[in-house]
Amino acid sequence: MAVARKMKGFVENGSMIRKMFEEGARLRKIHGDDKVFDFSLGNPNLPPPPEFKERLRAVVEADEPGLHAYMPNAGLEEARAAIASRVSAEQGVAVEGRHVVVTCGAAGALNIIFKALLDPGDEVLVSSPYFVEYGFMADNHGGVLKAVPTLGDFSLDVPALEAAMGPRTKVMLVNTPNNPTGRIYSAESLARLAAALERKSRERGGAIYLVSDEPYRKLAYGGAEVASPFASYSSSIIATSHSKDLSLPGERIGFVAVNPAADDAGDLMGALSLANRILGYVNAPSLMQRVIAGLGEACVDVALYERKRDALAAGLRAAGYDFAMPEGAFYLFPKSPFADEGTFVELLKEENILVVPGSGFGAPGYFRIAYCVDDKVISGALPGFERAMRKAKG
Ligand SMILES: Cc1ncc(COP(=O)(O)O)c(C=O)c1O
Repeated sequence: MAVARKMKGFVENGSMIRKMFEEGARLRKIHGDDKVFDFSLGNPNLPPPPEFKERLRAVVEADEPGLHAYMPNAGLEEARAAIASRVSAEQGVAVEGRHVVVTCGAAGALNIIFKALLDPGDEVLVSSPYFVEYGFMADNHGGVLKAVPTLGDFSLDVPALEAAMGPRTKVMLVNTPNNPTGRIYSAESLARLAAALERKSRERGGAIYLVSDEPYRKLAYGGAEVASPFASYSSSIIATSHSKDLSLPGERIGFVAVNPAADDAGDLMGALSLANRILGYVNAPSLMQRVIAGLGEACVDVALYERKRDALAAGLRAAGYDFAMPEGAFYLFPKSPFADEGTFVELLKEENILVVPGSGFGAPGYFRIAYCVDDKVISGALPGFERAMRKAKG
């Protein structure tokens, strides 16, 4: 067999999200674009804010020498400084450019963090449901993902997380606003988690790092606050990107910011920079670094996602679906009427509606709807959602 056994297994059990996306493409060929309602992928449908193209044009036209050249692994000084100043304002903790590595998206950020922190067999603790690729990313660097279910409303179960922290726990990974639930963890629950991390770090004689994966930070509805991991816990690291808040997932631009007070912050920065290079990212895209350095606080119009959430939630509620209202991001995670959510996902597919089974997120019995789609996809799908629920209830 040419392909490694482990990789073969990953491919077979791998990304359900991609599988559903491919199924969508197949159904579109048969039924036509407007008859298929594809909620499988978190691919933002809003265009980037207008400042993005203005800034991109300006950077290209300025055509500075070295525009397309290699650069330090951690990124351009101007980009790192701009990011640091935004992170300082957002987190309420002073951060400098030397605490930032510019990365190829949040996925690139997480991979260099895990590469920098994990020894073989070290554990990455996470709350389930969780973003499906975390397990692969931890495994890339010899780590093991350990999942602890959230409470029923998808908030953090801090006592259960603390009980799960052991001598091999190196990373506590949180994602807020959350994919797939849309939950924003409260400042109070993060403070309790931080206290648990302090206790367990002391017990194991070395820091457990709090890694906050927050590409949806700015997609918080109704002015909801997303708490600051840096203000809550010293050994904290932010992994994020502009894939969602600027609608730039194809441009692969994100960053890591390390709390200056983190245990071993200096060594950690060195390890992150080298990891960026040797994992083959080398450095984040040069053009995009220059663009985001000058973009300030630009963001897509979050109110548009909030409106989509409201339209979808009202329709699903009327059709008898049971779910927690998302507070941010652009995902809704309803309960399946059957314990085996795959059966219900198939019923939805009969209505040309594509969603992703919760098992892919470590939460069987649920499914994920990514509502970063045109309004007409939502309105067009609601009758099908209603019929599928009626069939399920028999
Ligand atoms: C929670 C979460 N983390 C990380 C990523 C990866 O983001 P990026 O495309 O910026 O690598 C995603 C993408 O959907 C995500 O939902």
